[in-house]
Amino acid sequence: MVQTYLQLRLDLATALAVFLDPEEAHAECVRWFEEGLGLSRSWMAVHGAEPVPGEVRLQVSAWVRRRRKGEPWAYILGWSQFRDRRFKVTPATLIPRPETELLVEAALDVGRRLKVERCVDVGTGSGIIAVSLALETAWQVSASDLSPGALTVAAQNAKALGALVRFHQGSLLDPIPNPMGLVVANLPYVDPADEPALQRELAFEPRSALFAPDRGLALSEALLIQARARRAPACLLEIGAGQGGELCRRALGAGWAKAMVHQDFAGHDRILVTLA
Ligand SMILES: C[S@@+](CC[C@H](N)C(=O)[O-])C[C@H]1O[C@@H](n2cnc3c(N)ncnc32)[C@H](O)[C@@H]1O
Repeated sequence: MVQTYLQLRLDLATALAVFLDPEEAHAECVRWFEEGLGLSRSWMAVHGAEPVPGEVRLQVSAWVRRRRKGEPWAYILGWSQFRDRRFKVTPATLIPRPETELLVEAALDVGRRLKVERCVDVGTGSGIIAVSLALETAWQVSASDLSPGALTVAAQNAKALGALVRFHQGSLLDPIPNPMGLVVANLPYVDPADEPALQRELAFEPRSALFAPDRGLALSEALLIQARARRAPACLLEIGAGQGGELCRRALGAGWAKAMVHQDFAGHDRILVTLA
């Protein structure tokens, strides 16, 4: 029997609802049509009753098989949106999260107030923070990551989006030359003890992008100490829910003059800002 695009959309929503909750299944179905097949709602309104070519049906079935095993849609698609830009993502990189936009907003705000000329994105992953800041300011932007695989993807994203970013492989600020600018980072901050309770999709993302010792605080604290010692004017970190109080105490202990926490839309601690 000939399957129309409208029928395919219904069948896809049903297939996704077998392993996703109904709201998620509906949202993903819309995204798969728009992002995966490039078919907008307005295109569907005009062409929905047309027959679906065999290769499109096969493609969608292959996506469903991968998604059913828990693979995130962004890895299947190969890209993800961040601040209205398209970033390549691979299993070597974390998938961008919407909360990280708050970190970029805070960095823009603090950097402009302090009139900084340079900044560094530590743990750049797919490069979303470094590339966004390079495209939205006149700052000299550099970035570091331990993972060569992530740095390859970040450099590809910078090139594709026309951003000038200097990438360095190494730990935290070790590979970054002086003088030090604004330090911005979304480092791993998940407590390893929380692993059994996490969504199964997270198992597809690199462990080295998610977990940090000392209840998720170790890398954030190490960067706060290093950034202060390297005379950065400010350090902005994405942090985990409930980590704000302890990290403020550790930041002040490391010699920062001020430490503040901003909450995300759900009211969770999300951004730590420290000033020299
Ligand atoms: C949570 S991911 C964030 C990626 C990206 N900044 C984002 O917001 O989507 C953390 C990144 O930090 C990197 N990383 C982990 N330990 C690091 C270290 N000691 N020095 C530099 N990068 C590190 C990981 O490889 C990973 O790419």
